[in-house]
Order: sequence, then C-alpha cells, then structure tokens
Amino acid sequence: MKNIVLIGIMGCGKTTVSLLLAEKLARPVIDIDEYLEKKYQMSIPEMFAISEAYFRERETICCQEVSKLNGYIISTGGGVIKNPENMKALKENGIVIYIDRPISMILEDVETSSRPLLKDGAEKLFDLYKERHQLYLDSCDYHIMNDVTIDEFINNIINCIK
Ligand code: S3P
Repeated sequence: MKNIVLIGIMGCGKTTVSLLLAEKLARPVIDIDEYLEKKYQMSIPEMFAISEAYFRERETICCQEVSKLNGYIISTGGGVIKNPENMKALKENGIVIYIDRPISMILEDVETSSRPLLKDGAEKLFDLYKERHQLYLDSCDYHIMNDVTIDEFINNIINCIK
C-alpha cells in the first residue's frame, strides 16, 4: 500500500493532520523531523547551528530511508521540496499531498522556538511561501487548501485519495 506524504510550509498543519489521518485510516504515522532527531541524537536547532547544509544532508538520508516504508502517513519538514532527490524517493511509493494554508492563518498560532528558520520572526514565512509555493505545487499529486475546519479538511484529503 502506498504511503501518504504530507508536504507544505511550516505551520500548515502537517503534524496535526498526519496524526488525525493515521487515526481515521488506521495507518501508522511517521514524522521525518522526529525520525531525524532520533537517528542523529540531535535537535533540529542543534543541526542548523552547525549549518543548514548539515541538516539538509541528513534530511535527505532520512527521506531515502522513510520512502522504503509501506502504508504510512509521512509528515515531512517544510523544506523537503528543496532537494528533488527527496521528492523522487518519497514519490516512488507515496501519494503526495500539498497542505496549503494562508500565511495569515498560520501566523495566528505557529510555534517559532523549535524552528531555526523563524528565529528572526514568523513573518519570514511570507518569503518562504513565495519561494516555495511553486515547488510544492510541482511536487504534489494533490493540492488541498487548509482553510476550513479540521474535520472538513481531513475528509477532503480522504475523498481525494479514495
Ligand atoms: C524547515 C521546516 C521544519 C524543519 C526545519 C526546516 C523548513 O519542519 O524541517 O526547521 O525548511 O521549512 P516543519 O515544517 O515541520 O516545521
């Protein structure tokens, strides 16, 4: 069974949605950022403190490993689309869903302390969205807006992948 891979900008809802989808579809769930932190016994801010490249190399290794799973709900880090190799691996056995959420809604509740790219303020999300929106579109099988209630959103995803 194919994996369901969730992509999108930081704070778009990947983690919450992955857990709810896993419950609703009775599938296992994995978060690539958590997998990475466990594998390398380092937090993401610690990896970024060495360099972003250090983090990205490890992220790519984890994408290759996680792509070998079957039937999982996979939550990715927002920058996973920066390296085409990551998406190539994740797509081989995965349906990729772009969770798109208006930045104004994300700014209402995004957590910045564990996200090194937002250390200078969550407003950086506007630039990242401009830089990455097209990459998310190019990388996904389905593009779904997360500007409805969470129940509606989960149902929209389930209807898409049926
Ligand atoms: C990143 C997003 C983060 C994490 C890292 C880099 C990015 O994941 O992978 O801080 O480049 O957008 P979330 O999207 O889960 O916050």
